[in-house]
Amino acid sequence: MNLETLNKLALERNDQTILGLFDTDTDRAQGFSISTGDLLFDYSKTQIDADIRNALIRLCDEAGLADRRTAMFDGAKINETEGRSVLHTALRNLDGGPVEVDGLDVMPDVLDTLHRMRVFAEEVRGGAVIGAGGSLTDVVNIGIGGSDLGPVMATHALAPYHDGPRLHYVSNVDGAHIADTLRQLDPTRTLVIVASKTFTTIETMTNARTARAWMADGGGDPAKQFAAVSSALDKTQAFGIPSEHVFGFADWVGGRYSVWGPVGLPVMIAVGSNAFDAFLRGGQAMDVHFQAAAWFENMPVLLALVGIWHRQVLGHSSRAVLPYDQRLLRLPAYFQQLEMESNGKSVAMDGSPLTGPSGPVVWGEPGTNGQHAFYQLIHQGTDVIPCEFMVAAEGHEPELVHHHRLLLANCFAQSEALMRGRGLDEARQLMADKGLQGEELERQARHRVFPGNRPSSTLIYPMLTPFVLGQIIALYEHRVFVEGVLLGINSFDQWGVELGKELATSLGPVVDGEISADGKDGSTAALVAYALRHRD
Ligand code: F6P
Repeated sequence: MNLETLNKLALERNDQTILGLFDTDTDRAQGFSISTGDLLFDYSKTQIDADIRNALIRLCDEAGLADRRTAMFDGAKINETEGRSVLHTALRNLDGGPVEVDGLDVMPDVLDTLHRMRVFAEEVRGGAVIGAGGSLTDVVNIGIGGSDLGPVMATHALAPYHDGPRLHYVSNVDGAHIADTLRQLDPTRTLVIVASKTFTTIETMTNARTARAWMADGGGDPAKQFAAVSSALDKTQAFGIPSEHVFGFADWVGGRYSVWGPVGLPVMIAVGSNAFDAFLRGGQAMDVHFQAAAWFENMPVLLALVGIWHRQVLGHSSRAVLPYDQRLLRLPAYFQQLEMESNGKSVAMDGSPLTGPSGPVVWGEPGTNGQHAFYQLIHQGTDVIPCEFMVAAEGHEPELVHHHRLLLANCFAQSEALMRGRGLDEARQLMADKGLQGEELERQARHRVFPGNRPSSTLIYPMLTPFVLGQIIALYEHRVFVEGVLLGINSFDQWGVELGKELATSLGPVVDGEISADGKDGSTAALVAYALRHRD
């Protein structure tokens, strides 16, 4: 990515404030925001002006973005290090045409699995699938990473639509997670879904075996009360899950992109197949927009370009995702995997080292909670952290409309405060109004200065419906894709997670005390020794 022009523009505009951009362009809010469907993405509270935007957009053509986009949607094997297509978009291609991988249309299988999911989900919801003790009251999804974060996030997000059995998620291999979850449940009326693309992930398989033993010991029937979601059908069979309860998907669905297919089964059981359909249709609507809109009015592209501006040009190493939507409480964690596992790479597609930074650290919490925790640093810390606010115009609680107005006011106030800041003179005046004078006034005033000129964007949507959620998730997926194309990396592998897994496997018998820690580094050996000493 050639950033020469952008670096030059950034230098030239060193003294240009965001507020100043609004003074010189009274239509800035309209000119630097775009909409698709009912979503509005406002990036006017950034330093991006028309020249910068043009230079950013040129990057898309230089990187061959249009061809890469076509290649992805057409099923080309753009995940080159794993030799795979990247076709999570096929999972929501409800009204689309054929999608071919190796000359074969994958859509009949996709739609067939979706149909089976619908039937199964409605049977569970309606009481036709029963456990040893009667209809199913609870569903436990056992999975981790992409086999957990997507459904967890969506289940929280769609709580107002949840009219099926209670849902629980177990991901951590820490026994506390499964113990605390199962303790509250009846093993004869619980369905366990084991979600794992590979069906080898140690955390998931350990939890699945523990759940199976719990169910069998408690009078439940694992042969009837287990289902599986996986690409490894031989392994689900070996685990003993009946084929009618197994929902497969192909290797061209990456784990962190998998919530649209069988991995979304618990969400479908919770909210019903119609609401899940609306979620898929929201994702599909974003796909259509992403493929059709010109770069300058293409929401995922603009979102990506704002990201590139902040990370690669201005060098801000993290970005905060701040949903003013309590039901999106797991969205920052979901985006962490989506963005950091996809674009946290140091080598380009051809294996050469990246010449600039990779994707940023992504983190966040819902507002207003974050305001009373970490916003201090965002406003007055020494690092600039671009913020991505999200908020619904309307909540689901008509009786609590005053809450929602406060939520909106807080969201808008934060982006305004970040941009506006408070200068020293104003802070001095505040202290003078409080009766302070001289050195004490000066000292106190300096603590009350806000540098301002801190960038943020806001995504606003009418209400967090299943359709809107689908749009938002697909928007961010495509944003990650665009950023990856501009960086020239493979956003669809995750080799960086492997070394830790290998070492954990080799450390298993050491921690069990079966073999010694000789050969390990001093720190690791000492930690093992401590753990062994303090056992029992
Ligand atoms: O370890 C990382 C990872 O492979 C993720 O990419 C994936 O979402 C997660 O583990 C779970 O993998 P699986 O669905 O195969 O259990």
